[in-house]
Amino acid sequence: MKIIRDPAQMQGYAETLRHQGKRIGFVPTMGYLHEGHLSLVREARNKADCVVVSIFVNPTQFAPSEDLDAYPRDFARDEALLKEVGTDVIFYPEAQTMYPEGYQTFVTVENLSKNLCGMSRPTHFRGVATIVTKLFNIVKPHVAVFGQKDFQQLLVIKRMVEDLNFDVEIIGHPTVRERDGLAMSSRNTYLSSEERADALLLKKALDKAKECYEAGVRHAGSLIERAKEVLEQSPRIRIDYLKVCDTQDLQDIDVIEGEAVMAVAVFIGRTRLIDNCVFPGRG
Ligand code: PAJ
Repeated sequence: MKIIRDPAQMQGYAETLRHQGKRIGFVPTMGYLHEGHLSLVREARNKADCVVVSIFVNPTQFAPSEDLDAYPRDFARDEALLKEVGTDVIFYPEAQTMYPEGYQTFVTVENLSKNLCGMSRPTHFRGVATIVTKLFNIVKPHVAVFGQKDFQQLLVIKRMVEDLNFDVEIIGHPTVRERDGLAMSSRNTYLSSEERADALLLKKALDKAKECYEAGVRHAGSLIERAKEVLEQSPRIRIDYLKVCDTQDLQDIDVIEGEAVMAVAVFIGRTRLIDNCVFPGRG
């Protein structure tokens, strides 16, 4: 397994692989890896000859008030996990080389970035779209895998790839959960044991909404109300948003007809967690 820190060297290696006729699979991450990340790497393995995983805590997707400095990091552990799962290259750049002095170019996916996480994190998806663009130009993947846990991020990236004619296939991978249902996240490490128990209410709230949907409820307001009752079981949970949106344009909907997503973000103490579930719509 190679570890490459220099973007130009990564670009050169990607070019060599392409000349050899190798198919490059790519999984961008911010490190502190868990089974969710590793399942994306396995998916990339199945789709490509050579798998590149990037580890980069991208400063431009964090607001000044957010957890950039506190974000958990453990390269040695990540390296061991990636080796085990059959990674060919870890691209592990430094912030200084990705955003050198004078850097001033950003990518904005206008409408999809506005709702949900975009409401409380207005510059977040601009940072994500920008770093993913840079990483695509450096790693030159044929295929890249993203998690459905970050539903809005996946949509933003798919839209960007289509709008800007990137020659890369984007694959969405299902959310990997802990045994009790909590969606795996590097940020779960921030939770105290009490908060960890509260965090389970996200999945329970989504399950309750899904149960109501399956029983025939189609009014978003009713589904939201039922899910909210579950979240309100803990006084420590502060809801950032709890919405039902169209899965194509992420606009809020009143009555579910086509495919829809219930997306939730909460603060538990100072930790912000997200999760979602999809309602299939007609058919
Ligand atoms: P990060 O949070 O490290 O996540 C990296 C990838 O792993 C994303 O595609 C995310 O959706 C996926 N992922 C995280 N938890 C998952 C889970 N429980 N199940 C399945 N997939 C999961 O998302 C980012 O980093 C960054 O925004 C990035 C795309 C790397 C750009 O900086």
